[in-house]
Amino acid sequence: MLLRFRNLFTSGVRGHSCRLFSVSRSSFSGGKGLVLGVYEKEKNGTGILFTEAAASFDRSISGKLSEMLSISGPPLKQGKSRIFYGLHQEFPSVAVVGLGKKGVGVCGKENWDNCKENIRAAVSAGCRQLQDLEIPQVEIDPCGDDQAAAEGAVLGLFEYNELKSKKKVQVTPQLHGSADTAAWEKGVLYGEGQNLARRLMEAPANHVTPTIFAETIEKKLSPFADRVIIHKRPQSWIESEQMGAFLSVSKGSEEPPIFLELHYNGNPDSRQAPLVLVGKGITFDSGGISLKPSSGMDAMRADMGGAATVCSAIVTAAALKLPINIIGLAPLCENMPSGKANKPGDVVHARNGKTIQVDNTDAEGRLILADALCYAHSFNPRAIVNAATLTGAMDVALGSAAAGVFTNSDWLWERLHKASVITGDRVWRMPLFQHYTKQVTESALADLNNIGKYSRSGGACTAAAFLQEFVTVDHWAHLDIAGVMTNKDEVPYLRKGMSGRPTRTLVEFAAVFSTEP
Ligand code: BES
Ligand code: ZN
Ligand code: ZN
Repeated sequence: MLLRFRNLFTSGVRGHSCRLFSVSRSSFSGGKGLVLGVYEKEKNGTGILFTEAAASFDRSISGKLSEMLSISGPPLKQGKSRIFYGLHQEFPSVAVVGLGKKGVGVCGKENWDNCKENIRAAVSAGCRQLQDLEIPQVEIDPCGDDQAAAEGAVLGLFEYNELKSKKKVQVTPQLHGSADTAAWEKGVLYGEGQNLARRLMEAPANHVTPTIFAETIEKKLSPFADRVIIHKRPQSWIESEQMGAFLSVSKGSEEPPIFLELHYNGNPDSRQAPLVLVGKGITFDSGGISLKPSSGMDAMRADMGGAATVCSAIVTAAALKLPINIIGLAPLCENMPSGKANKPGDVVHARNGKTIQVDNTDAEGRLILADALCYAHSFNPRAIVNAATLTGAMDVALGSAAAGVFTNSDWLWERLHKASVITGDRVWRMPLFQHYTKQVTESALADLNNIGKYSRSGGACTAAAFLQEFVTVDHWAHLDIAGVMTNKDEVPYLRKGMSGRPTRTLVEFAAVFSTEP
């Protein structure tokens, strides 16, 4: 499109090759791509407001980038990108991306940092355009926040195509220039952590069984063997722990259950009380005898999103060498209908001796979590945080804007919220009123009922109230992540599919937590 400008580049390039660069189509091969940022102009402002890296690049080619940008169309809108070809020998393709207004920061209404979110979105858009051109190496303008830029690149480029013969070109994003490389690397790890959760969630249920899930996490943690202990607890162990609620769900399937237990010892003082993270690990939720409708049932391969995000957060914490002790617990099994499956009205015994009437076998997440939460208490934890794709009602309440947080602790809430403002993967506080507890503790046959008395009303809240019956610690938070499980086009830097949310918020939370005395 812009090849008519091919001989514009005749002047010397500061810091780069000074050879005359005449562009022909064949000379594009082998060159790198470059993503550069541009801000929206201030009111009455003149000229183009480049980032530092873009301004320096523009100077190095005697202002040709500004010239091309001005003549190629209206000012770039936030999150949009435009490609220029043949401006530079090393970078035959340059994607200029719109960062929106300069100097924006944390927004009290949005509960996130506009600046970071704009960078993630813009960098992601630029990277994808260059990926479409099949350019395997792309350098990225840090845009003033190396971590956010790295996250945008790593998250934006991810696509699950492991089972397709035709794959998109693999792009390796690199930092342009030598700004804050530590922050860039941190962003890469945060992004890769979320991508690990996305991969586990997106993969079909016949490819991610409880056993394969546990093996995948074990492999991911193997480079950190000096600080990590892994137990893949088999059914016999689950039985010996008297986890009757978990077993009542797993027995409906032919696939053996696993109780995955991870110990990350990142604090030199191994006596430091751990943070315990618990994740719902239903590798497929058919609903059981209370069978779900078949339309959309395939999405229930991601019903292990709690386990995926929690375990991926621990892998990331290990890679970041966070100075903290974390224990990860993931009850992993399928929820299937069979001759051995739970039947509506069955009563089961949880690990703490409480009896539960299973009136709806599709409310299985709270059953497996009940036992995992009881077990979590045996580690004398500083705090317990669990994540679960628990209720469709959570999606009805908040959609994909934020994960719901039900917590008995203002202290924990503050830290989770603070972490989510930084990551842009938001959380929103939800109630744990007695009002809801009453609706699950009045059961005809048992101590508890696994569904609320008024069935659909406040479904996310009655589920949380149910979980609370298995919690005695002062600092516990339950994240209902059902609403943020998938992405259509709401988060611009995530492609359509399973989102891996809120892995980065869990990592950031652990990082905040690790700085507490
Ligand atoms: N895994 C589902 C919840 C879910 C729904 C997650 C949609 C992600 C997207 C959970 O096990 C479930 O089926 N919950 C029931 C509870 C009800 C029977 C009380 C629900 O939400 O309908
Ligand atoms: Zn279910
Ligand atoms: Zn479920």
